[in-house]
Amino acid sequence: MYIYAHRGGRAGGPENTMAAFTNALACGADGIELDVQLTKDGHVVICHDYKINRTSDGCGLLKNLTLSELKEFDFGAWYDPRFKGQKLLTLAEYLEWHITTPLLLNIEIKNGPVIYPGIEELVIRLVERYHLVDRVIISSFYHPSLLQVKKLNSTIKTGVLFEGRPIHICRLAQDVCADYLHPFWQNLDSNFAEAARANRIGINTYTVNDQDDFDLVCSIGVDAIITDCPEKFIR
Ligand code: G3P
Ligand code: CA
Repeated sequence: MYIYAHRGGRAGGPENTMAAFTNALACGADGIELDVQLTKDGHVVICHDYKINRTSDGCGLLKNLTLSELKEFDFGAWYDPRFKGQKLLTLAEYLEWHITTPLLLNIEIKNGPVIYPGIEELVIRLVERYHLVDRVIISSFYHPSLLQVKKLNSTIKTGVLFEGRPIHICRLAQDVCADYLHPFWQNLDSNFAEAARANRIGINTYTVNDQDDFDLVCSIGVDAIITDCPEKFIR
């Protein structure tokens, strides 16, 4: 079972920053999960919220700010003064580092409430440029993006993010030709896992942070967990 560091491992540094990513690598995480959106001038950048207010010393919507404007802000000190100086990363900057590591990568495309037309193609072209197709899973709560990814490159693995417990679980994946289901861990159960297995659909579950919860998802059987604290679960 693989251990992905959620937003780079939020327990070890400010989310979605190089400080968190390097810490996750040092901790022995198998992979990184990160979130991407678009700037005003069309750069793919790594940020969870559609506004920068919570995770920087700036404010405003990403879609209204250019990359050079965004680079002026600090994305580390809000978490702890020790992390002052962390900058917003482009996906390209991140991938330059990623290819020097053995890490797996889960890129979550954030679409909604702000919709970023064309973000899927920009992300795929970057993954291709860095020869990472075999090490990447693209996930999204916005399922049309996953369909678009498969249309653009059918060999890229995709994962369907969702909350709740649908009746027809596998249909969620089949509707968009996805390889994985990415459920919230509390919605997992044995029937869910059996149905996925029978249909050759993998399960990567989020966000597992406690030992009891980890033991439960292990007993059900998943391919990977996405966690804020990878160091806790790495044997
Ligand atoms: O990919 C799992 C998890 O990251 C989804 O939720 O809100 O943390 O992006 P969120
Ligand atoms: Ca995410």
